[in-house]
Amino acid sequence: MSEFQLLKILSDGQYHSGEELGSQLGISRTAVWKQLKKIDSLGVSLDSTKGKGYCLPGGISLLDKDDIVAAMSTASQEVLTCIDVEAVIDSTNIKAMGYAQKGLAYPYVCTAEKQTGGRGRRGREWFSPYARNLYFSFTWGFSGGAASLEGLSLAVGVVVAEVLYECGVEDIQLKWPNDILCAEKKLSGILLEMTGDPAGLCQVVIGIGMNVSMQNVDAEKIDQPWTDLESILHRQINRSELQAKLLDALFGLLMGYEQAGFSTYQKRFSDRDIHAGKSVVVKLGDRVVIGRSAGVNKTGALLVETELGIEVFNGGEVSLRRSNAS
Ligand code: BTN
Repeated sequence: MSEFQLLKILSDGQYHSGEELGSQLGISRTAVWKQLKKIDSLGVSLDSTKGKGYCLPGGISLLDKDDIVAAMSTASQEVLTCIDVEAVIDSTNIKAMGYAQKGLAYPYVCTAEKQTGGRGRRGREWFSPYARNLYFSFTWGFSGGAASLEGLSLAVGVVVAEVLYECGVEDIQLKWPNDILCAEKKLSGILLEMTGDPAGLCQVVIGIGMNVSMQNVDAEKIDQPWTDLESILHRQINRSELQAKLLDALFGLLMGYEQAGFSTYQKRFSDRDIHAGKSVVVKLGDRVVIGRSAGVNKTGALLVETELGIEVFNGGEVSLRRSNAS
């Protein structure tokens, strides 16, 4: 018996008495109380009212492996090799990287309710509270080495943005290289990691975090403007269905990427590029470059028009911000 079985019962948002919970799970009321304490330590807000019992206000939508697989397209079901739905994990990218490093069959998918060490780009932490958002990673293999991955992280952003648009998020923007924003606030982030031979057979881990149903209490823990799907769409999101939609779109992208490359995604990126044609500041290590964003080239590199001509920036340490100039 774990706290997760108890959470499943409480996920309906209704009140359940300690006695009822105990008899449903075949445990004593003291054991129920101990499990409720564990739920509390997961950061899930639990209401306890005398005479009524325990309740998760508003309920929660828990990820369900069978529901995810059932909602995936037949093509995705056929290509998927394995999916793990974890309750609590350090980082889905770390788990998927373990599979990738062993060269195990791809795509392997790991999705989790909570990450204790969620990793963002440039060493940042990715805030990953329990059962509110999506945190998932999957592996894919490439035979053409690092060169065949050029622009992939931008293409992943394009595809994720398009899924969000289909879900009803109209004002969806991409910020180079792969931040997904709505009304200039971050909605989703992407972290790609590679292992294997940079000149031959390699595996990539694609990790995606998406804010679905954050709560205001969380706001202080995130150091940049953010938003979440439920506050944009004003409706409850079934996270298992959303997870399936994203995997369908992403598997579709990956199946054709080694052959098609970034060029087919270049215009789709530009259509949502938040900085296109605007005055920008690019920081590359200690160097600061001010210019006008000229979009991205066929490999996904950022183009900036400066006094010296067009400068080309490739991934990694480059940060992009709007300058004060118009
Ligand atoms: C960013 O900084 O914008 C990238 C954030 C990527 C977060 C996701 S959540 C799932 C996967 N596991 C991680 O530890 N990180 C990625």
